[in-house]
Order: sequence, then structure tokens, then C-alpha cells
Amino acid sequence: MLHEIEHEAIAHGDPAPSCCMVIFGAGGDLTKRLLLPALYNLIRSGLLPEKFALIAVDRLEMTSEMYREHIRLAISAFASDKHYAQQLDVVNLEKLLNVIHYQQGDFSDSKFYQELSEKIHDIQKSNQIQKNVVFYLAVAARFFGSIVEKLGVAQLLKESENSWRRVIVEKPFGHDVESSKVLNLELRKQLHERQIYRMDHFLGKETVQNIMMLRFSNAIFEPLWNREHIDHIQITVAETVGVEKRAAFYESTGAMRDMVPNHVFQLLALTTMEPPASFSADAVRNEKTKVLHSVHPINPERESVRAQYIGGQRDELPLKGYREEDGVSEASKTETYIAMKLTIDNWRWAGVPIYLRTGKGLSVRQSEIAIQFKNPPLSIFKNTNLDALSPNILVLKLQPDEGAVLIFGAKVPGPKFEIGQVHMDFHYKDYFQNAPSTGYETLVYDCMIGDATLFQRSDSVVAGWEIVQPLLDYWKKDDAYLATYTAGSEGPQESEELLSGSGRSWRRL
Ligand code: BG6
Repeated sequence: MLHEIEHEAIAHGDPAPSCCMVIFGAGGDLTKRLLLPALYNLIRSGLLPEKFALIAVDRLEMTSEMYREHIRLAISAFASDKHYAQQLDVVNLEKLLNVIHYQQGDFSDSKFYQELSEKIHDIQKSNQIQKNVVFYLAVAARFFGSIVEKLGVAQLLKESENSWRRVIVEKPFGHDVESSKVLNLELRKQLHERQIYRMDHFLGKETVQNIMMLRFSNAIFEPLWNREHIDHIQITVAETVGVEKRAAFYESTGAMRDMVPNHVFQLLALTTMEPPASFSADAVRNEKTKVLHSVHPINPERESVRAQYIGGQRDELPLKGYREEDGVSEASKTETYIAMKLTIDNWRWAGVPIYLRTGKGLSVRQSEIAIQFKNPPLSIFKNTNLDALSPNILVLKLQPDEGAVLIFGAKVPGPKFEIGQVHMDFHYKDYFQNAPSTGYETLVYDCMIGDATLFQRSDSVVAGWEIVQPLLDYWKKDDAYLATYTAGSEGPQESEELLSGSGRSWRRL
């Protein structure tokens, strides 16, 4: 039986409390491209603890000096990347490198955990670091259960009145309802739910966090945010990239498991949840889970489309089809695109269709949430082009062009009565200085200060899988239809048909 100990969350903006961070998979891509640059950004903004150490764990034989050199290069490359372009802050980089310790080891070997325990203890002692530890599992999901078990057996997850132990895991949290429950049970054998930080990196994006700010810090939106005023909602996460070098992972995952129960449902939940009683982790997560539980069961045949990209073109350059990508089977039935219609059975949303689509190999990279409002109850402008009024649409633009647009009608100047659609456009970059960010800073910092608001709770993970399970089951059938679309296009024709029956259409990408 786990003993429950509450630790106070620290106020946002203060440096995190003294702790060690242990990264499993320290030689991997995630660590190099995102985690270490995020720690570098945190140290620059004064948010890393004054007394801090990073223990980097991986299998490769390496000294701490060699690992630091590797990280020095990775962070220098990150800082000079035109996307982040910033002056390399050598002082803070050195400060960070100095607290990095490399520990070679095989995390499948129980003996390793004894060595790790001693290492943590020595580093804490010689650097006067408190006993708090974050374990970051930057490894394939199949290892989560066994690593956590071994950490538990080695007493590394044991908390005290004055010290905490937390574990960060990244998606995928299982591959269906059953496996997500099994994973939760495995983690819960050694950890209290409060100690588990399930990371969905979409929640680290400023624009995604802004959905809540926009809804609940402005009085003008909320009165309209319901079935009385909203005709339907479209959520789009479109990517231009194909499967890249990830065929081994993607072939058994597909667009649905990779994107929908996690990233896309986070967007859905933030857009449709009720106002939480407070901004505390559980108040927010209760509402997000509640709305996922209210999603009406989807009819896979009539309310979903799955598709795979075939060879196409972008900017006159040829693009491979999915089945021609390295590592992909020639007969692969893995979907690279998915669209679905769902409805939410509650008073706010009854009868409002919500359309979701996500795919790879599309014409543009574009993620957005479009709220389409109902037309005015009648048009007083007879016999003009005003008869067919265009709807008002609020588009929350998540990436790459971050901001929001309100689309409404305005009179075209001149004696003739004519209406034109105009865009009231807000771009983040025009108002706020963009802090250099990998998207992981907030999440790593929030874990250190004990704020789990932006992390997924076990019930919401399971709720997400429950929504998509009927589709996963249906697609197992040999004759389940898999549409195709040309790489570089806007997606399959069948996806248009999902909306056209009701006289609606997707926004153009
Ligand atoms: C990941 C998926 O979780 O999110 C990838 O596994 C996807 O397939 C990526 O490309 C999208 O994230 P971002 O931040 O690049 O939009």
C-alpha cells in the first residue's frame, strides 16, 4: 500500500526547488533535441533550481566529460537553428554542463538500480542537493513498466515529508483501452497517481495553453460558446512530413493511435470542457475527463474516414507514397490520415457536430481549431448577395502561424449593397516576444514545482482510448475501407463527404 504524502506546489515564476533529474535514454534524440535545450532555456530564465544535478543514463560507454561535449554541441546547434536563433549564452551553458553527470548502465538490469541509487546519493550529498528526484523516461513506452518497477524495488521512488519523487512518461500510454489500463496499473504499483506526470507535448505549446486563457479570461467568448450559437467545430492537425525514419514505430501505430487519443483529444477537451472551479490540476483535469466521457459513441462506418497517402507532388517535386517509404510494407494498411465526426452528449454541446482531422503528407503544416457560428436567424438583406450570408468563424491558430482570426462580414464600400468577408487577425509575434522554446520548458518546470495541470491523468488517458476503441476494432476487419490521397494534397475525397451531407465543408488548408 502506497503511503500518501502531499507536497505543496511552488508558485509559478520562482526557481524550482532543489532536485536531481535522472534521464533514462540520455543518448536519444528526444534528450538531445528537446530536453537538454529546454533545461538550457530554463537555466537562462533562472527557473532551474540553484542546487540541481542532472544524471544522464544510457547504455553507451562514455565519461561525463564526453557526454557534456555531446550536449555542448547539441545546445549550440539548437541555439543557432534559424527557428530559435539566439545568442549562445556561454555562461549559462557552462553552468548547465557542470551539473551534468553521465551514468552508463543497462536499465533492464536490476543491479544497475543499486549503482544509480548510490550515484544519486553521492551527488546529493556532495552538492547539498535535496532528496527530490524527477525521473524522466525518454525511452520506448514498452520499458515504462519495468523501469518503474525496478526503481520501486530499489527504493528510489520512496518519498518523505520533505522530499518528493516524480516520474515523467511520454506518450504512447498504451495502444488501446486494455493496454492503457495495464500500463496504469503497472505504474500505480510503485507510484501514487500524484507522482506520475504523463506528458503530452501539445500541452507545452503556448497556443494550446492559450485556449483556456482565451475562453476563461475573456467575457465575450463564453456566452457564445454553446449549442445556441455554434454551428460546428473543426479541429485540424495537418502535417507535411511523411513517416520519415519512423516506419518501425508508425507501421504498428498509424495516425489514429499516434495523434488522436492524445494530442487531438487534448485540443478537443480544452475547447469543449466546462469552466473548471479553479486552475488547479485536478479541477482542470476533472473537466477535461468529464467532457471526454460525454462523447457520444462514434459509428466507425458513417462517422470516420481513414486513408493512406500515395505518391504525389509538392512544389513540383515528387513525393513518395507511404508504401514506398523505407521500412514500410508494400501491402501496409496503416492509415496516415484520419477524419471523424463526433458529438458530445451534454447540455452545452448537444447536436453540435465536431469534426477532427489529422494526417501526414498533406499540402501544408497547419494546426487550428475553427469555431463556426450559426448564421443570423434571418436575413433582412433581400435580393442582394447578402441573402447568402457567410458564417462568422473564430479560428484559433496553433501552428505554425500562431494567433487567432475572427472572420465576419462587412459592407463593401459603394452604393451597391454587397458584403465581403473580413479577417480580424491576431498574430502572437506582433504582441509578445517569443521566448525561445522547445515546448518542453513549461512541462519540465511544472513537474519540478509539482503542478500537474498540463499532464494527463490516468482516467483521461483511458477515456481517450474508450472513444477510439470502436474504430480500432472496426478497422481490424480485413475488408475495412482504407481510402487514399495524393501526398501533397488536402486529404482524401471521402473526408469531404463526412461533412458535405450536412451542407458543411472543411476549411481549406
Ligand atoms: C508526435 C507524433 O507525438 O507529434 C508525431 O508522434 C507528430 O508523429 C508530432 O509528427 C507532431 O508534433 P509537433 O509538435 O511537431 O506538431
